[in-house]
Amino acid sequence: MTAQSVRAASAMLDGGAFDVERYRADFPILTTQVRGKELVYLDNAASAQKPRQVIDAIAEFDRASYANIHRGVHHLSQVATKAYEGARDKVRAFMNAEQDREIIFVRGTTEAINLVASSYGRANLQAGDEILITHLEHHSNIVPWQILCQQTGAVLKVAPISDEGEIVMDEFKKLVGKKTKIVAVNHVSNALGTINPVDEIIALAHEVGAVALIDGAQSAPHLAIDVRALDADFYAFSSHKIFGPTGVGVLYGKAALLEAMPPYQGGGDMISYVTFEETRYNRIPYKFEAGTPNITGVVGMGAAIDYIQSVGLDAIGAYEHELLEYATERVGAVEGVRLVGTAAKKAGVLSFVIDGVHPHDVGTILDQAGIAIRAGHHCAQPVMDRFGIPATARASFAFYNTKAEIDALVDGIHQIRKVFG
Ligand code: ALA
Repeated sequence: MTAQSVRAASAMLDGGAFDVERYRADFPILTTQVRGKELVYLDNAASAQKPRQVIDAIAEFDRASYANIHRGVHHLSQVATKAYEGARDKVRAFMNAEQDREIIFVRGTTEAINLVASSYGRANLQAGDEILITHLEHHSNIVPWQILCQQTGAVLKVAPISDEGEIVMDEFKKLVGKKTKIVAVNHVSNALGTINPVDEIIALAHEVGAVALIDGAQSAPHLAIDVRALDADFYAFSSHKIFGPTGVGVLYGKAALLEAMPPYQGGGDMISYVTFEETRYNRIPYKFEAGTPNITGVVGMGAAIDYIQSVGLDAIGAYEHELLEYATERVGAVEGVRLVGTAAKKAGVLSFVIDGVHPHDVGTILDQAGIAIRAGHHCAQPVMDRFGIPATARASFAFYNTKAEIDALVDGIHQIRKVFG
């Protein structure tokens, strides 16, 4: 048994239950008081909190090992480069990618998708080609493709979703054809929590010779990612959703695709040779990492990956499923509450509306009780339009949440119903 699996096994209570209190103790912010109440943090889909292991790793790196990377012969630069490249290998293993050079560090999922749209998209798409997305996407998996369509004359196709918030696969299949060049879909919907059949979607894309990009921003904290089993061409996620720092994330791309793609941005580190007449580009992944990157952020993300793996994604998935079922039943049972997004397979997200109460009021009143949720369109306005609503209130869970916190949420919802008569 590895040290990690010993820790995971010993964190299970008798009877195999998940020892949530043990993990909560790792997250200093969870003891914070908000408005005189104990914080109930249910906004994990926007940004997850950091365990002390990540906070300490960041502080320790900045205190003792920080320097610029890939550039110095001096000791600290070498130490920092080793830590940075070590994190790349952790990400590779986390996603089960074959090679470190298939892992590109970016600012986050949004930048990863923009990179593919700008670089792969502009080099490979022509007028009349099609890009297929779904009605369930975050703006960051819509707008980069719209920009690409404006630049190339390609056409954006959108597969519909059902009243439950699932992709209508029969309709999706009809939209995959000879003209389809890129298929871009989220693994888990940020607005509704739907887990999408990305394996089937990737296979459909490949049948017509298209590439498939998976937006994994909401899957990475909840599900084990295996880019090789999925056969994903591109897969993106962000550090801040997986208990790491903001401003850093990952684009996985198959090596052959990345090698053939032109650079996304020009600058230092992405070149091998520069004259005014000619510039030769560096090998991948450096070709796509122009300028000094978020070195400390990458190291912090590596620590977050170590942490998640010490808990274990299988244990996380099972526990969160239990939480989600409990929350779905309890919140859904409150009179006047309607759940938005009731897919058969969901992860970590409960979106809802309360009759006669704007979601922003829901968020504001819950905040008075120390409960943090997100209210709004969740950067997924087409999803809101599909359900004929401007916004939802959204509780989103992490493995450090408890049933008692869901009870607090339900009490808060009852309170709101009283206030609004
Ligand atoms: N995309 C993030 C969310 O769903 C910020 O809240």
